[in-house]
Amino acid sequence: MAGIIIDGKAIAEKIRAQIKKEVEELKEKGIIPGLVTILVGENPASVSYVTAKQKTAHELGFYSVQENLPENVSEDELIKLIFKYNEDPKIHGILVQLPLPRHINERRVLYAIDPRKDVDGFHPVNVGKLVIGEPCFIPCTPYGILYLLAETGVQVDGADVVVVGRSNIVGKPMAILLMQKRKPVGNATVTICHTGTRNLAEHTRRADILIVAVGVPKAITADMVKEGAVVIDVGVNRIGTTPDGKAKLCGDVDFDSVKEKAGYITPVPGGVGPMTITMLMKNTLESAKAWAGLPSEVA
Ligand code: GUN
Repeated sequence: MAGIIIDGKAIAEKIRAQIKKEVEELKEKGIIPGLVTILVGENPASVSYVTAKQKTAHELGFYSVQENLPENVSEDELIKLIFKYNEDPKIHGILVQLPLPRHINERRVLYAIDPRKDVDGFHPVNVGKLVIGEPCFIPCTPYGILYLLAETGVQVDGADVVVVGRSNIVGKPMAILLMQKRKPVGNATVTICHTGTRNLAEHTRRADILIVAVGVPKAITADMVKEGAVVIDVGVNRIGTTPDGKAKLCGDVDFDSVKEKAGYITPVPGGVGPMTITMLMKNTLESAKAWAGLPSEVA
């Protein structure tokens, strides 16, 4: 029997409606959550992500600023801009879209962001807090996946979770979050697989929940999935262009075959993607509350 398709768009809409309501309530107190997104160069994927983030911020009633810097901007110029927003009281979240051009040291740039405005959760202060289970900014993609799992109602507590991919943005924080007793879901037994894993299918076939973030189109096929498993596909691979000029996308999971075997599965697009942007908004909202001295999930 075909698995249930997890509608990330619908779940994201529901959370966005809650955020919008909170933003309206904050406005009555004179607080407007502010987000700046900084884009360097014109990478088409990055342009499309940043545009979507700005559009959502606007729809939810945030104060939002878009900074577009040329591909050849110097590292010092970029850091100077970050320092400006570190000091700007209207801004509660600073996001530098990755990847950055090769001449820029990504780590130096991310470390320049005030950890109290680091809505991506990439600063080592937030990474450290995440690992020891303190309130902090949680990276948006794994944070969104926690909510997807919670909304779907699948059993995470005690489940065997296999995360394929060990990136700082998805794989590592995802594994840490799911092994913790954190809200909204956790307490799972987690295995991380990567390019050094000897027999990948042996691990993935054991997974009650399989989370894939490797950036390889259709890397996971039906024979690698347990009957009834929950399959979360983080991949967004551009595999061509549609007749109307839009990017043709495909995940890291071979959706057509795996959906026949999985209990639940996320589509690409419309699964994890909308949740990532939603959690960026949640982080910015929580940041604004923290800066105003109100109770917040990030402080
Ligand atoms: N590039 C791909 N994913 C992300 C993300 O979550 N945040 C930022 N800043 N850049 C990205």
